[in-house]
Amino acid sequence: MARKKTAYACQKCGALTPKWLGQCPECEAWNCLQETTIEETPSKYETRLGGYAGIEQPGVCLLNAVAASRESRTTTGIKELDRVLGGGLVNGSVVLIGGDPGIGKSTLLLQTLAGISQTEIHSPLYVTGEESPQQVSLRAHRLGLDVSRIKLLTETQVERILGIASRETPKVMVIDSIQTIYTEALQSAPGSVAQVRESAALLVRFAKRHNVAVFLVGHVTKEGSIAGPRVLEHMVDTVLYFEGDSGTSFRIIRAIKNRFGAVNELGVFNMTGQGLEEVSNPSGIFISHHEEEVSGSVIMVSHEGSRPMLVEVQALVNESHAPAARRVTLGLDPNRLAMLLAVLHRHGGVATYDLDVFINVVGGVRVTETGSDLAVLMAVLSSLRNKILPEGLVVFGEVGLAGEIRPVPSSLERLREASKHGFKQAIVPKSNVPKDGLADLEVVPVSRLVEALRAV
Ligand code: TYD
Ligand code: MG
Repeated sequence: MARKKTAYACQKCGALTPKWLGQCPECEAWNCLQETTIEETPSKYETRLGGYAGIEQPGVCLLNAVAASRESRTTTGIKELDRVLGGGLVNGSVVLIGGDPGIGKSTLLLQTLAGISQTEIHSPLYVTGEESPQQVSLRAHRLGLDVSRIKLLTETQVERILGIASRETPKVMVIDSIQTIYTEALQSAPGSVAQVRESAALLVRFAKRHNVAVFLVGHVTKEGSIAGPRVLEHMVDTVLYFEGDSGTSFRIIRAIKNRFGAVNELGVFNMTGQGLEEVSNPSGIFISHHEEEVSGSVIMVSHEGSRPMLVEVQALVNESHAPAARRVTLGLDPNRLAMLLAVLHRHGGVATYDLDVFINVVGGVRVTETGSDLAVLMAVLSSLRNKILPEGLVVFGEVGLAGEIRPVPSSLERLREASKHGFKQAIVPKSNVPKDGLADLEVVPVSRLVEALRAV
């Protein structure tokens, strides 16, 4: 009789320990270890499955003996998706697409497969563990897609999926969603950390061995990381997350990790009745168009990935009645705001400890680069003093702890973008001022926070 091996998996971080413990040794969370049985070692159940994912002998060779061929890519037919993938889908790569339920993951992937099926000789395979074939068909119909060459499989057991996939030989495969997939080798329920991780590992190995590009759909659960896509991030080549306000129709896809391209690259879409439409020039959509100018609003030029983008930062500074003043941010790291407010106090002489400060980046977009610092502080000051900033002004620059304004990358592209959209004046770090200047755009250099505050 085969000896049953048991291990305890942390339901938070997925760590395995041989015996039960009250606290996870990895993430130090309490009461989250659950038993999982590992009946066979992976290599055994792989060989029984007909060797579709057998382990290759590790061989040692000289690095310069390895041909440095460039990865071959397939275009998805959706330019914004190609852009976040780093210039198309790399053959044999595994892409994790995460996001809240209902944000548009299935829609995007169905559109993608329809696009790919127009050019690929092999029919792509859509594996659905969540929806019935009728539901998928209904969506395809609604989207008006030509799905005559997409193959559909309703199955949740990973061994059966891989068995079928190795017969069907698709070049691109979608697993919707990884939380519904399970392996027979484990007894825990589908969706548990152990199942998600183990099934994904098999899919990754299959992708590499058969050179099949695999999209894994992962729902971000309410708790964030538990059994969610985060446990898979290290296994896959590319991680894309949907961002965006469910209140607006804009959907942003950000590359969090990419072995084949730049991280923080953004793809921008608009959810319409005909599915996701690309927004190839996103500047402008993240700016609210006020009837009249209002205080507390600053336009900045961010540069995420490889594209400059105009973004509106709004601040509301209000008298606080809570014991501790509130600092609330949407689309911005709250720690960054706390730091900036401290700099504003120390080097700008403006105290906010008894004031609530709310920051919102308009349109549900998230700003992850430091070029927003100056814009945030100006928005705070504008709201505090109830002073409207001049129309046609853009701002960017990093603020250092010593109150200095530090340069940011790609300043010329940012300035050009601002100029293209009719902005007349830019307050930028001194070393970001272009030598030759820009037509139609007055560039105001600042090197200290006080100068920047005086400039408006
Ligand atoms: P879906 O792709 O099913 O989300 P996910 O797979 O991430 O859970 O998207 C569902 C939402 O998108 C649903 O609220 C309806 C909306 N939608 C449109 O607005 N237009 C469309 O053409 C489609 C297909 C969906
Ligand atoms: Mg879905």
